Amino acid sequence: MTEQSPVTEQAAQPVKAKPALPDAQTVTEVKHYTDRLFSFRCTRPASLRFRSGEFVMIGLMGDPDPKTGKQKPLLRAYSIASPSWDEELEFYSIKVQDGPLTSKLQHIQPGDELILRPKPVGTLVHDALLPGKRLWFFATGTGFAPFASLLREPQTYEDYDEVVITHTCREAGELTYGRDLIEGLKDDELLNEVIGEGFWKKIKYYPTTTREESAKMGRITDLMRTGEAFSDLGVPELNPTTDRAMICGNLAFNLELKEMLEAYGLEEGANSKPAHYVVEKAFLD
Ligand SMILES: Cc1cc2nc3c(=O)[nH]c(=O)nc-3n(C[C@H](O)[C@H](O)[C@H](O)COP(=O)(O)OP(=O)(O)OC[C@H]3O[C@@H](n4cnc5c(N)ncnc54)[C@H](O)[C@@H]3O)c2cc1C
Ligand SMILES: NC(=O)c1ccc[n+]([C@@H]2O[C@H](COP(=O)([O-])OP(=O)(O)OC[C@H]3O[C@@H](n4cnc5c(N)ncnc54)[C@H](OP(=O)(O)O)[C@@H]3O)[C@@H](O)[C@H]2O)c1
Repeated sequence: MTEQSPVTEQAAQPVKAKPALPDAQTVTEVKHYTDRLFSFRCTRPASLRFRSGEFVMIGLMGDPDPKTGKQKPLLRAYSIASPSWDEELEFYSIKVQDGPLTSKLQHIQPGDELILRPKPVGTLVHDALLPGKRLWFFATGTGFAPFASLLREPQTYEDYDEVVITHTCREAGELTYGRDLIEGLKDDELLNEVIGEGFWKKIKYYPTTTREESAKMGRITDLMRTGEAFSDLGVPELNPTTDRAMICGNLAFNLELKEMLEAYGLEEGANSKPAHYVVEKAFLD
């Protein structure tokens, strides 16, 4: 009689796995630019479809409730800075030292998990604009993020003859992410192949600083009012026949620029009613 080996109980036991975060994605890369700015990339859920320029809710688990010990997700709106075709997702973030989310998020490392709710929304999309010849992107601070997506989106160059991107920050170091990204477009394989070599000559980049010396000082709004921005760029003032615009910055900037664009005769558009320009807040005040 052959001896039967005893069946171990172990295989039948459920494996105790570490509780997974809801909608978890894995961080793949982190880059720090200043003590207030960083960018990171993470895996993209297979089911996530979005239009370049949209935003999603992302975050981490909050601290345990002192009474119940339970943890709740701590989520914030973030523009997706990568284009719709990218295999991964990229985000460009502020670090607010006492900010509930970013005081923690600034310490993430490759391999860490974050929460990403796969429900993209937003108004900074091509669908919300009527056809035009020149597309303006107006950003302050991290308001550059949705344009980092749209600048890598082939449709931007298919739909427009010229793309003007203005970025106003307090300090020169705060322009690095945007400047590197725009410089890198020259070697972007997809855009060179789909749009054609030299497509990047359609881009006019206009970075300005307000509190630290740089090649161009001043708020973009003031530089437009005096006409200096237009003469520097070699383009005429905006008009509703040729120009389309997207605005993303702090509330005061958005309101001021909105008023200026309306004075040029441009009308605000939306997903449901495309028009000449669209606006989105870069953060809630
Ligand atoms: C539609 C939308 C899209 C957004 N996209 C981005 C993005 O792509 N990148 C990003 O960093 N933030 C973005 N934000 C802001 C983001 O949602 C959070 O406010 C930010 O991550 C800070 O979170 P917190 O919990 O640390 O502090 P919060 O309590 O949310 O903010 C604390 C304070 O910090 C300041 N602050 C918050 N966000 C910023 C910012 N981005 N720049 C400068 N000051 C800020 C404000 O004064 C705010 O009152 C977006 C907000 C909205 C509404
Ligand atoms: N950036 C920093 O170094 C820093 C450091 C510590 C704390 N903070 C705090 O963080 C918050 C956000 O700072 P931030 O620098 O990221 O964003 P911000 O205050 O929104 O400023 C970003 C840029 O937008 C310009 N701007 C502001 N209002 C404008 C308007 N109406 N029209 C045209 N341009 C306008 C600013 O110019 P002006 O400089 O002329 O305002 C600045 O160049 C603020 O509450 C700030 O107090 C910032």
